[in-house]
Formats: sequence, C-alpha cells, structure tokens
Amino acid sequence: MRGHGGAPGKIILLGEHAVVFGEPALAASLPFGLEATVEVRAAGGFAIDAPTAGDDPRVAEAVAEIAGYFGILHASVGLRGELPAGGGLGSSAAFAVALARACAEASGQPLSPTQLDVIGLASERRFHGTPSGVDHSVCARGGIWLYRRGPPPLLTPVKASRALPIVVGLTGRKRRTRGPVASLGEKIERDPNRWRPLVARLGALAEGGARDVEAGSLEALGAKMNEAHGVLAECELSCESLELIVQAARRAGALGAKLTGAGQGGAAIALAPDPAPVLAAIRAAGFEARFAEIR
Ligand code: PMV
Repeated sequence: MRGHGGAPGKIILLGEHAVVFGEPALAASLPFGLEATVEVRAAGGFAIDAPTAGDDPRVAEAVAEIAGYFGILHASVGLRGELPAGGGLGSSAAFAVALARACAEASGQPLSPTQLDVIGLASERRFHGTPSGVDHSVCARGGIWLYRRGPPPLLTPVKASRALPIVVGLTGRKRRTRGPVASLGEKIERDPNRWRPLVARLGALAEGGARDVEAGSLEALGAKMNEAHGVLAECELSCESLELIVQAARRAGALGAKLTGAGQGGAAIALAPDPAPVLAAIRAAGFEARFAEIR
C-alpha cells in the first residue's frame, strides 16, 4: 500500500492579486515541483518527513485531511522537491496535488480532475484563507492558463507559439499569502475609487499577456510584466529584495521583470531570452536564481 505522486510549481506571469477580486490571471506550471510518497500503516497516525515545509503545523493538518479523503488514517508521508515554502512558487498547491495523487495510488482509488480540484481548493483555504484557486488549478493541469475565479472557475488554455525563457529569482524571504492579500482587500474596501482601477488594469494586462504568449510577442509581454510590477508596487506588494532582483534583471537585459505570487517577499520572474547575464546579475545582487523554460 504505497503510492507516489508529483506536481509542478507555478508562476503567475500576470494578474496575481487581481484574480482574487474577479480579474483574470495568466499562470503557468514550472518544470520543477514536489514529489510525495505515502506508505499506509496499520496504526500510529501520520509520520511526516517534509524538510522544505519546516515546522508549519498546517502541513500535518492538511496531510490528515487529504489522506482522510481516501480513507487513509495512518501513513508515513514523505515530501521532497525544489519549491521553497512561502516562496511564491505554489508550494502549498503542489503539495496538495502531489499528496492527493500519492494517496489515490496508495489506496487504489481513482482520482478525477474534479476531485483533485476539490481537494486542492480545500487545502489552499487552510493555507491562504481566501485563495482564488489559480495555484492548485495550474499545478494540477500543467501548462499555461488564463484563469478566472468561480464558481465555477473559468480556465482557458493558452498555447505558447514559442517557449517563454523565464529566470526565477528568490528573495529567500518567506511570507504567508494571507497578509498581502488582506492588505489589498482593505485598501479596496477603504477607497475603491483609488484601488479598483489598478486591479482592473492588472486583469487587462493578464488578458493582453495571454495574446502575447500565443503570438510569441516577447517584447510586448515583457512590457506588460514591467507595467504590472509597477502597479503591484503601487499597491505596496513589493519589498526591497524584490526591487533589487527586478532592477538587476532589467539592467542585465530582461525584456520584463516583476514580482510573482503574493509579493512582499517570495519570488520575482524575469523574461530573459538571453538568461545567462540575468542569472548572473541576480546572483551578484545576493539572491538565488534559476532558469525555467515555460511552455
Ligand atoms: O504567492 P502565492 O503562490 O501564494 O500566490 C498567490 C496568488 C494570489 O493571487 C496573490 C492569491 C490568490 O489566491 O490568487
């Protein structure tokens, strides 16, 4: 009674935060992610070995919930992968999807896409409060998607006419998605005339960005990423480390660079057809960076 499952991480190319408030987001799976293993035991509850998850108590709660969905009450659970927790690369969503797949295999039960969405959303609620659902939807499906939250969510596949050369820069600063999402929500509630148009602009950029991806117009996509970063920074969702990464990437020739995910830490992405100098510049600024070809 063993099972194994994997799921990729994700980046949001355009539209993070706005997607929480009903606008579309353009998101894509990463070529790396998390792997989960489950070995069902007769007794003893759950033994969890998840070095990258740290000592977050929500991980144990989520494991019990997801395994319980498959009638598994006792198991050794292992999680391995390359997604830093709280890093803006969809680690919590990839965790839920990979674990659900491993539990389905271990229990010999089928797992439909709808079930995977239900499990993913419930787990994301535990970690993020009011998730739009974009993270687990993209991690479960892979590929590039224009996503609009539901119910029911609307997922439109985006076919890239050429692969997107993306450099991911990591601030190393962990944060919970809940805080930055709530801070924008409060702003909108306090002064909708000031903040709503910015959210709408982020949604329009995501919609236009999807067309750029399909057309292979990397310059146009990069310009939209730069504009979106400016809007997100105006919404106070950037931070000093993200600014250093974004500026380093642009100076080194990236066509566009922005924070990705919730911001105020986590990760930034740069669209870099010539990635080597961008990787070098981000590393020289003191941050980890890696290349990912997105398609
Ligand atoms: O940083 P992450 O991976 O948790 O991304 C969150 C994306 C947001 O749009 C900020 C929140 C959401 O639920 O869509």
